Amino acid sequence: MKFPWDKYKELPLSKRNTLQVFITKACNLRCPGCFVRNVSEGEEGFMSFEEYVSALSQAIYKGVKQINILGGEPFLHPKLQRMLALNSFLALKTTIYTNGLGLKTKMDLHGAKLRVSIYGFKGLKGVLSLPDHSKVKHSFDANFMVGKETKLETLLSVANICEAVYRCKVFFISSIRELDNPNQEFFDDTNLTMPVLEYKKLVHQFLNEYEGDMEIHISKRGVFESTQSLPHNKCKFANYFIGGKIIQCPYDVINLKYRKDYKFDSRYCQQNNTCLMSKIILKPKKK
Ligand SMILES: C[S@@+](CC[C@H](N)C(=O)[O-])C[C@H]1O[C@@H](n2cnc3c(N)ncnc32)[C@H](O)[C@@H]1O
Ligand code: SF4
Repeated sequence: MKFPWDKYKELPLSKRNTLQVFITKACNLRCPGCFVRNVSEGEEGFMSFEEYVSALSQAIYKGVKQINILGGEPFLHPKLQRMLALNSFLALKTTIYTNGLGLKTKMDLHGAKLRVSIYGFKGLKGVLSLPDHSKVKHSFDANFMVGKETKLETLLSVANICEAVYRCKVFFISSIRELDNPNQEFFDDTNLTMPVLEYKKLVHQFLNEYEGDMEIHISKRGVFESTQSLPHNKCKFANYFIGGKIIQCPYDVINLKYRKDYKFDSRYCQQNNTCLMSKIILKPKKK
């Protein structure tokens, strides 16, 4: 498969120590395959503001520069705005991961970015399920989750809608994974997942045919080799869950392993440069 490098410029990746904070177990959707159900045993809950402050102070001490806020659905958290104000005060860059149902809110996001996850045309997280663009109060980056049934036409159309209608500047492509398989391993295929070689073909076809101007971010794993060397011997992620669980990387999120003595810039896991978090960013050349 020939990748059209001549069409794109690969941006150098900067390393940014990131804490992902899962601020709630509550959600207004039940997406098939969502891994949160596997980390949200017990009652649904919201992280207290005090616990949030405590998580942040530990992380800042360890060098965190970026906070990703996830859930569940972060917009359901009654203290979200207060958390964002604190991040802004502490000069922490922030991204909120959301299903997009809260895009109509006029809440002051204090400079936080939004990343909206989308599956395809219809269904729970279809692009057509997003609020009418005239009612959307915030700009956002789109994150398309490829599943077994995803067609090239759908991927292209959703990208075009995100760009033309919602004015997105960044389009992430990632693959749905799920734990409902005999090994309970995140990267094993299930009825929902697209086998990695098909996924690779789909992504390459998309990049050959996409004519727009959005920046395209793609998980590097199994898709193609980057032209740049990545800091693959370092880990830049930690995840903080309600109740003080700190988990070093997404593999460990899935395995529910955690460590109290996490450090950014050191890798405790056995993974190599197949890491889920290494990705490439492609910027279409100006025509
Ligand atoms: C668990 S969600 C929580 C935030 C928000 N509710 C949302 O859906 O974006 C966080 C991220 O995990 C992704 N995600 C959910 N289920 C997934 C799965 N089975 N495989 C890969 N990513 C998944 C979502 O698309 C989203 O980008
Ligand atoms: S909206 Fe997000 S948290 Fe809620 S079920 Fe879907 S993927 Fe999971």
